[in-house]
Order: sequence, then structure tokens, then C-alpha cells
Amino acid sequence: MTLSSFPGDTVTSCAPARALRGVEDLRAALAPARREGRTIGLVPTMGFLHEGHLSLLRAARDECDVVVMSLFVNPTQFGPNEDLDRYPRDEERDLRLAGEAGVDLVFAPEVAELYPDGFATAVEVDGGLTSVLDGDPARRGPGHFRGVTTVVAKLFNIVGPDVAYFGQKDAQQAAVIRRMVRDLDFPVRIQVMPIVREEDGLALSSRNVYLEPADRERAVALSRALAAAEQQARAHDSLAAGLDAARIELAAAAIEPEYLEARDAETLAPVAGLTGRPILVAVAAKVGGARLIDNVVIEPQGG
Ligand code: PAF
Repeated sequence: MTLSSFPGDTVTSCAPARALRGVEDLRAALAPARREGRTIGLVPTMGFLHEGHLSLLRAARDECDVVVMSLFVNPTQFGPNEDLDRYPRDEERDLRLAGEAGVDLVFAPEVAELYPDGFATAVEVDGGLTSVLDGDPARRGPGHFRGVTTVVAKLFNIVGPDVAYFGQKDAQQAAVIRRMVRDLDFPVRIQVMPIVREEDGLALSSRNVYLEPADRERAVALSRALAAAEQQARAHDSLAAGLDAARIELAAAAIEPEYLEARDAETLAPVAGLTGRPILVAVAAKVGGARLIDNVVIEPQGG
């Protein structure tokens, strides 16, 4: 697809999406669309696309005139003992899938393009949002979210999207980004799309490739635990009953969670019971070679 033929012009193509490496190249490529008042949708990714990413791309394709996907394994959101070096990468495949999903432009910068020598700025969402769950210093830590918000803020400034798409799978990330957008008045709408699951319930993740077959079977206990949590919490009108049921499911698969917690879905403040507001039940666990996260939101009854 060429830049003079955005989807609104009814020209479609399944050629691999075009990758641009430079900030200025991307801005220049988007300038005509911006001048013409076309809506721009951004889907930020770290690549190794799966159906979860594709659902975001399809939503962007449906709703926006121009779809930009970023493809960047962001080093600043990985801790020193995390999987930056072995994070799965396959740019050729990603460009092909992006093309098939109707992406107009892929922004795939080198690290030095986004973090040039002397880079010294960070965007940090404070408070209860980034120091709990994955942000607990004993886990990934707040530095993980500082890396995410810094790169997402840069992407927003580079692309200038009208809408940006994120997955509910990373519920905490989505809550943190929503807060950043609100607090810093980014003129972008954040659209969070539902978790995409395998048939047996396992939430899709690029990191699922780390699972050996036996661990892949055990990993489904995370989604089973969350389903049990929701079902039992509703049946007994008790969050504690829900969390107990989830712990039993995890234990049956010999999974020791890093955390299994219930929090207000927007503020991530701890909750002791069903509050009448959406409650996020989030779990993280190491299963074999993969650290997996998953969650469910218990919506208020009748809400
Ligand atoms: O969710 C992800 O893949 C990443 O955290 C994101 C939003 C692309 C930022 O690097």
C-alpha cells in the first residue's frame, strides 16, 4: 500500500507492511494524512505478533483511516535479569502479518533512534499504580512501568495518534497508560481490547514460546484459576471465596503464584471485598521457563 492510497481510498494489498526506521521519516510519511484530517490509529507492539496483536490491528483498521504499528523491543522496560536478549523476534513475519492486517506503516526503529546518546528523560506514573503487582520492587519493579510509559509517551509524540490500542492482558500497563494520558493531557483515546485466549483458555502471549509441552499444559491453570475466582466470588458474593478457589486451581497444577491479588480495576488500590466497582483479579506465575500473567475483571452485578 502506498501512502497516497490509504484505506479510505479503497486500495488494499496484502504485501508486507512498509517499515520505517527513522522518527523524521515516519513524521514525513504521516504528514499528508494529518493535513487531510484523517484519523490515525497506533498499535504499539514489541513484535512476534500473535492473534492478540492482530485483534488490536483489526480494531484499528476498522476504526481509523491510517493504521501505524510500532515494532520495538523496548530495552528500558526489561530488568537486568529479564529476557531482553532472548525475547522472540521475527521482523519479516511481523511485516507480513501486519500487511495482511491492513497496517499502513510499521515504525521499527533501532534502539539508538529512540534512545540516542545522552538520553536522560523518563515519564513516570507515580503512586499505587506502578509499585504494586508487577511493579512491586520484589517483582519487575516500578522501573518496568517507567520504561513502558517513557517509550509509549515517545511513540505518542512521534506518531500523534487519535486512538492507541492496548490489550487487556496487560491490565496494569493499560491502567498506567490511561493515567499517564489523563495526567499529561495527551490528545489520544486509549482503546483496550479483550484478552485473546487459546481454545483451552491460555491467554496469548509472545512469551508462550518459552513453554515446554508439559508446562504448556500446566499453564492453563492460570485461566482456570481466574474463571474459578470470578465464578466463586459471584456465587458467594465474596471476593475471598473467589481467591480461595483460584489458589486451589493453581495448587492443583503445582503452580506457586508470584501474586494473586484483587484490586480496583482503575486505581489498582487493594480491595477487601466486592465494592460495586470493577475488580481486577490478576495473577503472575513462573511456569517452567515462562513468566506468565493473566487477569479477569469482575464487573459489578447488573453493571
Ligand atoms: O505491551 C507491549 O508490548 C509493550 O509494553 C509496549 C506497549 C509495546 C511498550 O513497549
